[in-house]
Amino acid sequence: MKKLLGASKLFCCNKEFQIINNGGVLFESDPSNPKNKILCFGDYQSLLEQNPDAKASFYPQHILLPALSNPHIHFEFSNNKTTLVYGDFGEWLDSVIQRREELFENLEQSIQKQIQLQLESGIASVGAISSYGFDIAPLASSPLRVQLFNEAIGSNPALIDTLYSNLLARLQECQKHSSKRFLPALSIHSPYSTHKILATKVANLAKENNMLLSVHFLESNQELEWLTQSKGFFKEFFTKHFGNPNATSTLNPMEFLELLEENKTLFVHCLFASKSELEKIASMNAVVISSPRSNRLLNNRYLNLEILKEVKLPPIFSTDGLSSNFSLNLLDELRHTLFAYPHYTPSEFAKELVLGVTHYANASLGFEGGEIARGRDADFALFECEGISTSTQEALHFILHCQKASEVYINGIGAYNGKTF
Ligand code: BEZ
Ligand code: FE2
Repeated sequence: MKKLLGASKLFCCNKEFQIINNGGVLFESDPSNPKNKILCFGDYQSLLEQNPDAKASFYPQHILLPALSNPHIHFEFSNNKTTLVYGDFGEWLDSVIQRREELFENLEQSIQKQIQLQLESGIASVGAISSYGFDIAPLASSPLRVQLFNEAIGSNPALIDTLYSNLLARLQECQKHSSKRFLPALSIHSPYSTHKILATKVANLAKENNMLLSVHFLESNQELEWLTQSKGFFKEFFTKHFGNPNATSTLNPMEFLELLEENKTLFVHCLFASKSELEKIASMNAVVISSPRSNRLLNNRYLNLEILKEVKLPPIFSTDGLSSNFSLNLLDELRHTLFAYPHYTPSEFAKELVLGVTHYANASLGFEGGEIARGRDADFALFECEGISTSTQEALHFILHCQKASEVYINGIGAYNGKTF
């Protein structure tokens, strides 16, 4: 079956940020086809006349755009509200080590709630960091497209074999659910928390299986000091929590990047990365993901987007988890980000923000949506926005006013219609 959707404003989300007034998209919508694609797009009325057999709907005073992607999220921390300490990365990490077990009670229903919230905010695909495997089953049975990043963490060399076996067991569990929509992937938590030998094994495993890799990188000044000088907060941290006063960093920042040279990697945060480290990331065809509210709450700063621009890395945005945020609504994240960079012109920055959760975010996850173009995945979101038909600052008005999608299509099929939540 073919469907035709139309709206007052169609955001194509190509690099030029083309917008079509009274635009429409014709797409495949066959429930048995795992790869329903966009067939064509353009003026809604013309598409309607050319395709009288298509099931057609037009949404006045709505924006139609490719469904959003949230490429870095920890569903397993969905129970946190007031347990973890914000304001300083070291104090936050201490609180995670001391109190994380408390956060896993009745987790399943909190994960389900956050999955629904992703759909409600127009998201079709997520990059989920899975530390324990608690999120595998709920995400596998959700309508979302998922890169499930099975995470390895551990700085103690004596535990590497055990930790690696545990990772392989979670990966195998994940592979049972593997499909076009649900893709098992890998994560090295970070260079400060993962021993070089364990990190190397995980990087090799990702290469052998052609899997994406996600890593937290240079999120805090404490991490930078540890990786470059093996001193500061982490000296005390490893003594206090792991009884190891002799711990040293096993990788400096550049060595960590070199280790991942042949991987396809999402580098998350990079708040304290230098221009040369960002240049290296760009040269590896890797991407940088920013979670502005998480960065504000844990490290009191935002990523310098000017340096990112200089090295030709597009900004990509995500919410991170409720471990370092107060909502996993990606539209809220964009609204806050708009206000976090007051030196950028609102209407122009708004376009970059939208591309950072559609075009570039989707590509970072290796999916084929994120843009309205022939042959792309039929993943769409529709948002009502009163007065949008006469707006000349459409991206800005979208960010300022749109709270909840009225419809979300994933793989050409309705996945959310405003009533599901
Ligand atoms: C570890 O498991 O070794 C670890 C966990 C968190 C931070 C640093 C190290
Ligand atoms: Fe994270």
